[in-house]
Amino acid sequence: MKKAASTPPVIALKGLTKRYGIGDAEHTVLDNIDLTIKKGEFVAIMGPSGCGKTTLLNILGLLDRADEGEYELDGKSIRRLSGAAQARIRSDQVGFVFQNFNLVPRLNVIENVALPLTYKGVGKTKRLLAASKMLKNFHLSEREYYMPWQLSGGQTQRVAIARALVNDPAIVLADEPTGNLDSKASHVIMEELSDIHKRGNTIIMVTHNPALTTYASRVITMLDGRIDTDTKDPRAPINKIDTTKKPLGTHLNATDAKSTKDKKKPVKKATKSSRTKKASKEKDQK
Ligand SMILES: Nc1ncnc2c1ncn2[C@@H]1O[C@H](COP(=O)(O)OP(=O)(O)O)[C@@H](O)[C@H]1O
Ligand SMILES: [Mg+2]
Repeated sequence: MKKAASTPPVIALKGLTKRYGIGDAEHTVLDNIDLTIKKGEFVAIMGPSGCGKTTLLNILGLLDRADEGEYELDGKSIRRLSGAAQARIRSDQVGFVFQNFNLVPRLNVIENVALPLTYKGVGKTKRLLAASKMLKNFHLSEREYYMPWQLSGGQTQRVAIARALVNDPAIVLADEPTGNLDSKASHVIMEELSDIHKRGNTIIMVTHNPALTTYASRVITMLDGRIDTDTKDPRAPINKIDTTKKPLGTHLNATDAKSTKDKKKPVKKATKSSRTKKASKEKDQK
């Protein structure tokens, strides 16, 4: 992907505000948010349940509208775009990974993954080949002709992510893409997102797992509809044990073991070299 210094930010929000309810029941879900995201950033958004993360992603993906404030996408105010123009942006430029996956129940796995290409007008052979390749990346080749109801939760999630990435979208919006996955499956997905990111695409990912923020170039935390913290190059502050640069996989292992300790989740498999050390470190902490 091309990069130019003069390119406007992919996303620029100014005073973005969203409210739900009326009268006494009215509450502000997004409260005067200012946020600029440049092309090629990998932003992780964290924050407690109900703080507005999904609402923000939906507005960024043009699935919902703010009540106040400005949203400029690629330098253009979305206010001025027609419904059709917004729909085109959604199908051409944005890849969504929804929290509840939304596979189409009457389509099999490969057809589900190929769907974004159908909307783009790609021919059948080409789109099935692309879908097949993407499914291979997610170790789902044997499931191509399964129906969604025949998949486990984790497989469903991987199919949904394969579908979001199949048309190489400029912006990927992912709402807890690894929510219910074990750490090995999370790793596969994060590697895939990382790859898309390395090709210059912009990724905005909501996650509850602090370990996964090591893949991000920027970590934003939200609180009560506002941006609480905004950290670029987050690796140093988050990975307190070891601040030296390491391959991504090693980062994931180190922080995953630490962060999941409290949540009683199964501890991630460490690499051979680090396994013994990490295990004893873990025991020490308990
Ligand atoms: N369609 C809706 N109508 C009313 N309230 C909503 C709606 N969607 C979300 N909310 C409320 O907005 C707040 C933020 O929700 P959400 O963006 O889903 O938070 P998060 O993704 O951070 O958990 C919550 O209090 C939620 O109950
Ligand atoms: Mg949410």
